[in-house]
Amino acid sequence: MDKLLIFGGRPLKGTVTIGGAKNAALPIMASTLLSSGIHHLKRIPRLRDVFTMAELLKRMGAEITIENDTYKINTKSIFNFEASYDLVRTMRASILVLGPLLARFGKAKVSLPGGCAIGERPVNLHIVGLEKMGAKIDLQEGYIFAKANRLRGTKVYFDIPTVTGTENIMMAASLAKGTTIIENAAKEPEVVDLANYLISMGAKINGAGTSIIEIEGVNELIPPKTYEVIPDRIEAGTFMVIAGASGGDILIKDCRTEFLEAVILKLKDAGVVFRETREGLRVIGPKKPNAVNIKTMPYPGFPTDMQAQFMAMMTIANGTSIIKETIFENRFMHVAELRRMGADISVEGNTATVRGVKQLKGAPVMATDLRASASLVIAGLIAEGKTIIDRIYHLDRGYEELDKKLISLGAKIERLKK
Ligand code: EPZ
Repeated sequence: MDKLLIFGGRPLKGTVTIGGAKNAALPIMASTLLSSGIHHLKRIPRLRDVFTMAELLKRMGAEITIENDTYKINTKSIFNFEASYDLVRTMRASILVLGPLLARFGKAKVSLPGGCAIGERPVNLHIVGLEKMGAKIDLQEGYIFAKANRLRGTKVYFDIPTVTGTENIMMAASLAKGTTIIENAAKEPEVVDLANYLISMGAKINGAGTSIIEIEGVNELIPPKTYEVIPDRIEAGTFMVIAGASGGDILIKDCRTEFLEAVILKLKDAGVVFRETREGLRVIGPKKPNAVNIKTMPYPGFPTDMQAQFMAMMTIANGTSIIKETIFENRFMHVAELRRMGADISVEGNTATVRGVKQLKGAPVMATDLRASASLVIAGLIAEGKTIIDRIYHLDRGYEELDKKLISLGAKIERLKK
């Protein structure tokens, strides 16, 4: 397993360009199953999760060719309607093929994702929503066996604004008979990007980005000539924190600031300065950040996917920061590793109290999940001395060549190939 070796204590300066959004690319790739045609998707990031989704589609019969960051996906001859455990267990977002398979082919066999480091992460809301649309669903031997003659439009209410749940039902409803209303829908920009792709294929969708989405089913969807996915707001937010935590000065290109309002406001409270320029967003970190409290919430609230990164910055802030994680029940796996580097953090239930210390000290640490690994990279960049991060395959799931981008910003980083 690869490791990252980081010599910290240097402010990061320079320019970085944000890649395509992982959490928009994955549902949009799954949505290609809804139509028989050739899709051209641009700005698809080179990430492990994307490769897994491509493998899943290929096993179903899709033909995929890649030119730079453009994926050409031909879904004219899908013959296998199964998403097997060996792939699903490595990438929970595989559940996103369930809605499209049911809507277009009337059958699907999809492995239950199982838990993951940050929480149990059930998919009950996906299943209940599809059953309400007329699907017959059995759970056996860890698999979801689903079939439907033709899904029919209905009203689906989500107890929790689930992101992939909203995406699954929106995709299924695009080909259903009649109109579906999703209430308490997720409002994330990635949900809107998926809706925009579906609309470009001829779907009739109103309200994406609000908590009520109306989808009027159509009989067929036809791929557009091409489509470019949105930039990754969590990658952009991660670089903002890197500038803020290291006292750096980073110009971030292809950053959609409107997707990051909560994060930007909190970083401004911490003393980070933002300047919109013609080339992009310039982010200037203070000598030492101020302590700021955060509470993760569904979009447009402070994103849970930025909590671990922000905590790394708070470990060296002036004062004490209270961090509440309200989305996942176990998303503090990075705390124990940050403590190994000298952070002063105590956890009570879903609340972490972070008392700023003068300086972190480099140490060997272990990544446990995608955003925790980003948190450890930030800690390594600001710590005095050497940090070695093990199991960085977690990082490669969601960040494209993060080490190379950081080296171009002046970081002293080496990837140790095992
Ligand atoms: C999406 O996961 C993202 N993944 C996650 O990003 C992100 O952290 C999460 O949304 C929250 O923003 C993708 O988009 C591929 P949820 P998702 O369904 O859809 C509970 C990353 O780092 N829930 O919105 O799986 C669930 O347990 C990843 O890129 C149910 O109880 O999250 C959680 O507590 C990590 N039943 C809450 O809802 C369900 O059927 C929100 O989960 C579904 C969800």
